[in-house]
Amino acid sequence: MNAPLLDVRGIGKRFGGVHAVRDLSFRLEQGEILALLGPNGAGKTTAFNMIAGFFRPDGGEILFRGRDIARLRPWDICKAGIARTFQLSKPFADLTVVENLMVGGFARSSDTAAIRERAEEIADFLGMGRQADTEVQHLTAFDRRKLELGRALSTRPVLLLMDEVVAGATPAEGQEMVALVRRIRDRGITILIVEHVMKVVMALSERVIVMESGRLIADGAPKDVVSRPEVLKAYFGEQYAAARA
Ligand SMILES: Nc1ncnc2c1ncn2[C@@H]1O[C@H](COP(=O)(O)OP(=O)(O)OP(=O)(O)O)[C@@H](O)[C@H]1O
Ligand SMILES: [Mg+2]
Repeated sequence: MNAPLLDVRGIGKRFGGVHAVRDLSFRLEQGEILALLGPNGAGKTTAFNMIAGFFRPDGGEILFRGRDIARLRPWDICKAGIARTFQLSKPFADLTVVENLMVGGFARSSDTAAIRERAEEIADFLGMGRQADTEVQHLTAFDRRKLELGRALSTRPVLLLMDEVVAGATPAEGQEMVALVRRIRDRGITILIVEHVMKVVMALSERVIVMESGRLIADGAPKDVVSRPEVLKAYFGEQYAAARA
């Protein structure tokens, strides 16, 4: 078997007395869409931040294409081929859609004309071609979410980390996002997605992992994992899980 694209081995992170992530290990295969689930405060965003280089793990290794990236800076991790979206997006509000999409392009090149062309391509890919020259402050919340995704794509990632990109979306917007994520994967990009909307998780991922209180508590097919007692307990509490058993 080939080595996995991403191999997280025993990473942990403490913030003072809070053990946000404990001994977390999982693998991600090339071409997969893997969903990371867990209740609020489970450590999902902290795990993302370690993979993307925003936090240094206290211990453990993060192998990406066989190389340990656990202590690299975000910039070098981006160059290695990992991009992430932020749970709270912070686009440049007084720049246009295309200008925002150009920023990431400079991570790989300094050819402004080529970067603009690629940014326009991404705007079209997002279905935002008509808003290419709109200032971001005039976009709807959902278009900003799509732009956040586009900004990650503009760095030409091999692996894309998506943190709750459907949060606050209408059902129709959720469907549009599902279709968009599939098209991203079809372009050969591997995806790790944190998502609370189960319909979206079920539609997108063949495999899910679940965290609770910083630990990994399940890894498997979505429909199997969501009916496991330890997962029900994590989401709904002990009594609910016992009643279902
Ligand atoms: N920078 C930080 N400083 C201190 N504590 C933090 C920091 N970031 C996260 N934490 C704590 O670590 C724990 C895990 O937080 P994290 O944001 O990773 O959870 P999450 O699974 O992403 O939750 P949510 O679903 O609410 O986004 C929480 O107790 C949180 O308060
Ligand atoms: Mg989070």
